Amino acid sequence: QELNLKLEMLEKGGYDHFMLKEIYEQPRSIYDSMRGRIYPLEGKVQLGGLVEYSEKLRNANRIIIVACGTSWHAGLVGEYLIEEFARLPVEVEYASEFRYRNPVIYENDIVIAISQSGETADTMAAIELAKEKGATILGICNVVGSSIPRLTHGGAYTHAGPEIGVASTKAFTAQVTVLTLIAFYAAQIKGTLSQSKLTSLLTELESIPSLVEKALATNDIIVKIAEEFKDSTNCIFLGRGTGFPVALEGALKLKEISYIHAEGYPAAEMKHGPIALIDEQMPVIVIATKNSSYEKVISNIQEVKARKGKIIAIVTEGDTEVKNMADYVIEIPHADEAFLPLLATIPLQLISYHIAVMRGCNVDQPRNLAKSVTVE
Ligand code: G6P
Repeated sequence: QELNLKLEMLEKGGYDHFMLKEIYEQPRSIYDSMRGRIYPLEGKVQLGGLVEYSEKLRNANRIIIVACGTSWHAGLVGEYLIEEFARLPVEVEYASEFRYRNPVIYENDIVIAISQSGETADTMAAIELAKEKGATILGICNVVGSSIPRLTHGGAYTHAGPEIGVASTKAFTAQVTVLTLIAFYAAQIKGTLSQSKLTSLLTELESIPSLVEKALATNDIIVKIAEEFKDSTNCIFLGRGTGFPVALEGALKLKEISYIHAEGYPAAEMKHGPIALIDEQMPVIVIATKNSSYEKVISNIQEVKARKGKIIAIVTEGDTEVKNMADYVIEIPHADEAFLPLLATIPLQLISYHIAVMRGCNVDQPRNLAKSVTVE
């Protein structure tokens, strides 16, 4: 018994929980997921497992992403990035819905299946279906040699290392990293980005692990925020653009491990329903970084404040405007909008973690959840 405990402590590398260890491993896991794949000076992305399908990618009319849970959220980020940079239409589907609704699939469709474990039953069934219809299937998986990489034609592994905590953290940011690379790779093949733009994006991408390190330094303020909101019964997460899937992921993390009811919403949709929930008890976590939707998000914050909601805003370092309106701000480093999900996700993971710990929850093994869902 004592030996087991000691072994577990060793495995956790000095952290109280696997989840916290995995959150802190992200500068490394993001780096590992892009290592050897980007050449900023040449403005080039190289993805070995996709080379064979580059012609298919050039000629594809659309990409369909299938996934479940957190991996589905990564898919939504991928949709924004692939459409933005490669000008290729993307649909993101819950694997469980896709497989049962007689979807329209063409032979020149590319299906990207995203799965940390590589064993999710619904995602596997979605792949089989798309394969039968003749589509090209690419996988983004974390577990080498798992079932999904064996079912797909090609793909790119995430190199997050083993993820033990049931709530996915480093696997998510690794998936987003690989999807970012796929977006750039598709742009390169289709010629939709200039060489100089690709060079500057890749140069910035290379610096993301060190910016993630800085985002992790928000931990102290987050502990204070968690203390204040740990007894909440509800929480809303808002974001626009790539901030929207980040909001969904933030809400999922909070409900998974702290059992607080949480909803992620595109900030502008709030007025079509969730705004009715807002009162002085309601924490609203808003991604309000300086990018193209900044001004719009500010008006959404005002809508929440007018109804006495509590605003916790994720802002860009040095922001003053949101600071004047929000109850709490969490500052993350500035980066191109494309890389926002990799940075804004970090404080949301930490908020969920600390709230769950303060509520006495089993963060690494939340009730009713499994790390890998191999039954439908
Ligand atoms: C389970 C896990 C989630 C995960 C989802 C999809 O529900 O608890 O963390 O996002 O399955 O898993 P996959 O391995 O396919 O990414």
